[in-house]
Amino acid sequence: MKVLVLGSGGREHALVWKLRQSPLVKKVYCVPGNGGIGQEAECLPGDPSNVEAIAQLAEEVGADCTVVGPEAPLIAGLVDEFEKRNLAVIGPGKAGAQLEGSKIYSKRFMERHGIPTARFRVAESIEAAVKALADFELPVVIKADGLAAGKGVKVVKTDEDATTTLDEFMRRHTMGTAGERVVIEEFVPGEEASFMVLSDGEHILPLAPSQDHKQVLDADRGPNTGGMGAYSEDQIITSEMRVRIMNEIVGPTFEGLSKEGIIFRGILYCGLMLTPEGPKLLEYNVRLGDPEAQPILMRLHTDLMELFNGVLERRLDTIEPRWSPDPAICVVMTSAGYPAKPEVGRAVAGIDDAEKVGGVKVFHAGTRRNQQELVSSGGRVLGVTAAGENLQTAIERAYEAVNRIHFEGCHFRRDIGLKGLRRLLKKSGPAN
Ligand code: AMP
Ligand code: GLY
Repeated sequence: MKVLVLGSGGREHALVWKLRQSPLVKKVYCVPGNGGIGQEAECLPGDPSNVEAIAQLAEEVGADCTVVGPEAPLIAGLVDEFEKRNLAVIGPGKAGAQLEGSKIYSKRFMERHGIPTARFRVAESIEAAVKALADFELPVVIKADGLAAGKGVKVVKTDEDATTTLDEFMRRHTMGTAGERVVIEEFVPGEEASFMVLSDGEHILPLAPSQDHKQVLDADRGPNTGGMGAYSEDQIITSEMRVRIMNEIVGPTFEGLSKEGIIFRGILYCGLMLTPEGPKLLEYNVRLGDPEAQPILMRLHTDLMELFNGVLERRLDTIEPRWSPDPAICVVMTSAGYPAKPEVGRAVAGIDDAEKVGGVKVFHAGTRRNQQELVSSGGRVLGVTAAGENLQTAIERAYEAVNRIHFEGCHFRRDIGLKGLRRLLKKSGPAN
């Protein structure tokens, strides 16, 4: 098979890497790819959100399957165009993609279908937003309605911060049109988890659980980012919690979609807060999480193309994915100034050396090749991913690899996976 992957981040590099391991896959193309993907697939220029041009390209190269990495092409209706042309594609259509495209739409969807989530109000003007704020205690969460690459959510602790955020989003348009309308919601304390499922429109297959680290600084401080690192291991979610997530969140979501006449094929990502009262849904994404995809795909034993064929042929019920019991972790290395103003164009060195550490693969995100030199080209530059027989080993391997890589101003969190270690310690804690 020939497969076309759309996107240019660490998630897409991980997809390409995994697809290339499949005996079913003879050739992988990627649009537009990055400096690392170019070593493993044929990169073609283009904008994944330019729906018609991409569909035409898929026809020209004879792609037997197109895998959409990021959300923007899905929200722009890429899958609808592909289906019109009878082209095989992995991802939901425009209607399903609204679950990620609009926070207001998704919160109202959760409300309509009784899915546990934070209490919220919608505001379409700054005056209405200020009024709505009065209904909530601090801290409170303010979310831009539209797409903002993980940066449109602010947890604010003071009235002053709240006013500044509303001013930025709604008057100074720092998020562009995405911030014209906002969701204001109750702050839910707890531990976050990322829970993704693959759907063929009729059957659902849960993927391994993972945990992201959204804030830019250690101990979850500083502004939110697209994700500074993630790990995947089975104990992130207990078996009781997993049953509740399936019954209270995933099940009602697919029932709701079906009641509303929306067929959802592809990946549904539930961003959860695990609370003592049970799981609460913070957000949906309609694609693999990034960086979560990197450790998850590292743990996947099953042929990824086999899973995608299961989606295309509507037979996910016949597939039982196999996962490595070994945890995997991804530490994201970013440019100085990320997330506000990343400084790019820095030479990146040491990747070959880093990959000599056992169980390590370095996925590229914001990199490009300048002649032979590898340079940074985005906020998130690399996802240094490692597997190990236990979480501690995986963490040590990832950081040993990180320490072998250098580019000017590079930043990374030093506590990726620590919550997982603490959970294990608590479990094995003092007897009686
Ligand atoms: P979202 O894009 O809606 O998932 O929000 C991004 C991040 O903001 C989440 O991963 C959480 O870390 C945080 N967040 C969002 N909503 C809430 C909430 N209601 N309570 C606490 N934290 C939240
Ligand atoms: N890491 C969270 C996301 O992909 O949105």
